[in-house]
Amino acid sequence: MAPFLYMFLAFGYTGGVLSLVMQGQNIFESPHFWTGSVVLILLTINAILSATGFIGDKSLLRTIHAYVGSLALAILLFHAVLGLKLGLSI
Ligand code: HEM
Ligand code: HEM
Repeated sequence: MAPFLYMFLAFGYTGGVLSLVMQGQNIFESPHFWTGSVVLILLTINAILSATGFIGDKSLLRTIHAYVGSLALAILLFHAVLGLKLGLSI
């Protein structure tokens, strides 16, 4: 499921920026942009970790993967609040 979530978020990220471009608004400036970028970076780290097969199936890397993923999901909650604020300010 996580790779699908990752893909969905990457499309949403691109769509969010394009939506602002179409509306003639400033891009890459909102706090919502920064939390979105951090989440995508964290999920990219997780994707790379898993793609390497956790480098010889090391349990430490599996644990890091679980924490990085959980952190990303926690930031997404905050990200939703910031998205709502951004929407209401336009
Ligand atoms: C939403 C954030 C994510 C969370 C919370 C998460 C959590 C986890 C957890 C808890 C495990 C099991 C670790 C263990 O063996 O102890 C796992 C395994 C795995 N994750 Fe993630 N993950 C996330 C994102 C991703 C992403 C973005 C990818 C790839 C694009 C990915 C690919 C995998 C793979 C391939 C495994 C190994 C499955 C297996 O052992 O067969 N994960 N993940
Ligand atoms: C409940 C969740 C979310 C809400 C309420 C929300 C809301 C918004 C709104 C209102 C905009 C301005 C564009 C427009 O008016 O159409 C926007 C832009 C954006 N969204 Fe979201 N969004 C959410 C989730 C996400 C997710 C999951 C991502 C991907 C990680 C994302 C990434 C972005 C980005 C990158 C922008 C452009 C910001 C900028 O360039 O300053 N958003 N979002």
